[in-house]
Amino acid sequence: MNDIQVEVPQETTEYAIKIQKGLLQNVGEELSAITSSRRVAVVTDKNVHQHYGETVDTQLKRAGFTVHFIILEPGEQTKTFSSMPAMYSELINAGITRSDVIVALGGGVVGDIAGFVAATFLRGIDFVQIPTSLLAQVDSSVGGKVGVDLPEGKNLAGAFYHPKLVIIDPDVLNTLSDHYFSDGMAEVIKYGCIKDASFFDKLTQLNSREKVMAEIENVIETCCKIKQDMVQQDEKDKGIRMLLNFGHTLGHAIEAYYNYESITHGHAVAIGMVTLTAIAEEKGLTEKGTAEKVRRCLSGHNLPAELDEPEAYDFILSYIKKDKKQLNNQLHVVIIETIGQAATYKTGIGFFDQLTTGGQIT
Ligand code: GLY
Repeated sequence: MNDIQVEVPQETTEYAIKIQKGLLQNVGEELSAITSSRRVAVVTDKNVHQHYGETVDTQLKRAGFTVHFIILEPGEQTKTFSSMPAMYSELINAGITRSDVIVALGGGVVGDIAGFVAATFLRGIDFVQIPTSLLAQVDSSVGGKVGVDLPEGKNLAGAFYHPKLVIIDPDVLNTLSDHYFSDGMAEVIKYGCIKDASFFDKLTQLNSREKVMAEIENVIETCCKIKQDMVQQDEKDKGIRMLLNFGHTLGHAIEAYYNYESITHGHAVAIGMVTLTAIAEEKGLTEKGTAEKVRRCLSGHNLPAELDEPEAYDFILSYIKKDKKQLNNQLHVVIIETIGQAATYKTGIGFFDQLTTGGQIT
């Protein structure tokens, strides 16, 4: 046998996350600083376009860019493989080449699909994230996970493909509904739970949207720094990055049971965090009183701690059983030993048994 060793030089990826109120007004300058191209495709959805399309268009044109908008239908149902061919066609027809840039202007759905299109169009072109939901600003726009859903489940096709820049303007949160502001707060609180007890205490005190908005730049920065640290240590999500999934095993199953409609991601994760922590407390894995602290913090941000229909757990747990990540009945759940200290715990689906046998635990 003749062996040939292929050595691919390691690519080091570096990008800035810029957080500043009003930054959308400087989008042209910010983009000019990371590309020499003057052609850009902005992927957005109809709602976000209505609020911010004109500002972005004007600012980019002022900086000398030719701008082409790809405007998607809002909602998770857009984030599918079948949306992609039309997006590739639009990029080709707009004359976008390998040296040009895709800008993702929107929430998690837009960021994920635009990022996956950027990763695959012409084998990869530069992209920039401008997240417009709190959830996207503190989580999905950072860390390079891009992808789409398949009929078999969420995020089953995708890549790790990092943006060249993340532009976060907290002012855009002013057009977010209270429901989706709370949805993002669940992920914000998650960071306190897994990594930073004093941040968690602060979030318990900042118990209204107004109070959070008064400190929003620092809040977003704290979350992004925690995520940055984990992504730098474990880009491909095989170790410490998994701690970001605290509350998500149950949360994803709840979302799936409710068809991603009546219970949205953050609300499902909130229920997941409290419920799992209550179970872990009973098993002696978590300091007593922790679930109550998490519940109190969440309730200050209008987030639930339990399901209105606990009887639904019979069905919800079957979604966890079907989860492809479960191998030989083994499940890796993320627990918190105390506020600010997370760990993974190897267990089985039986971990959640008391939800179906004993009803609500929290
Ligand atoms: N949203 C979890 C992660 O990016 O790893």
